[in-house]
Amino acid sequence: MDRTDQTTHFGFRDVPLENKQQLVDSVFHSVASRYDLMNDLMSGGLHRVWKDIMVNALDPPKGDRPFALIDVAGGTGDVAFRIVAAGGAGTRATVVDVNPDMLAVGRERAAERGLDAAVAFVEGNAETLPVPDRRYDACSIAFGIRNVPRVERALAEAFRVLKMGGRFACLEFSSVDVPGLDTLYELYSFNLIPALGRAVVGDAEPYRYLVESIRRFPKPDAFAAMLRAAGFRRVSYRRMSGGIVALHSGWRL
Ligand SMILES: C[S@@+](CC[C@H](N)C(=O)[O-])C[C@H]1O[C@@H](n2cnc3c(N)ncnc32)[C@H](O)[C@@H]1O
Repeated sequence: MDRTDQTTHFGFRDVPLENKQQLVDSVFHSVASRYDLMNDLMSGGLHRVWKDIMVNALDPPKGDRPFALIDVAGGTGDVAFRIVAAGGAGTRATVVDVNPDMLAVGRERAAERGLDAAVAFVEGNAETLPVPDRRYDACSIAFGIRNVPRVERALAEAFRVLKMGGRFACLEFSSVDVPGLDTLYELYSFNLIPALGRAVVGDAEPYRYLVESIRRFPKPDAFAAMLRAAGFRRVSYRRMSGGIVALHSGWRL
């Protein structure tokens, strides 16, 4: 049972647990219309490569065989579009996100791509996914888990909605472990990213939160232990780009 006096992190601030979601929602409300552009600018396009690596790992079938993905905290649909493009005619994706502004951008993008039938957008919380047990072949979450107030609940939900033999993949920012690159990355993160946010979105604060939340997120070994505690097996992770991001994987077996 959660006690109402529990606290958690919102970036570098400690906030009451029950306030975090509202604060996170206001961040994504203010960046939604420029979210995709900012992703490209901040990562120099690298987020596309990281997402493609996750999609390759999930390996949707190329033929007609049905394959259902749930992309949690899927925002504007980037991962879902990539899965559908990589898979065959039987591949479908459901994007679940708590923020209607991000979903609205996603629905527009799906319509532009003619993907309305293959990708569904559903408003819902990662901690209480609005879908039945054992429905999906794969569950992904990209750059979303650190925003969720109760990470353990989101992992339990990911496990619940996977079929037996289903795979969970989670892409998240991690900790840079290359000497020299770590200093550059710190300078870039704490100075250039908020400045870019001010220039493009008109507000540096959401991007300050982004950078701070990355620093507060558990290290890969600790996160892998959380996956095991949620019931996942064959848990592993792979660092990419000098540790800027990590791709975590686990199976429901
Ligand atoms: C950094 S964006 C990532 C979007 C997308 N996965 C991508 O990689 O482009 C984080 C997303 O998490 C969503 N989010 C935050 N808390 C959530 C929660 N409790 N349940 C579901 N989605 C959540 C936000 O609304 C936002 O769309």
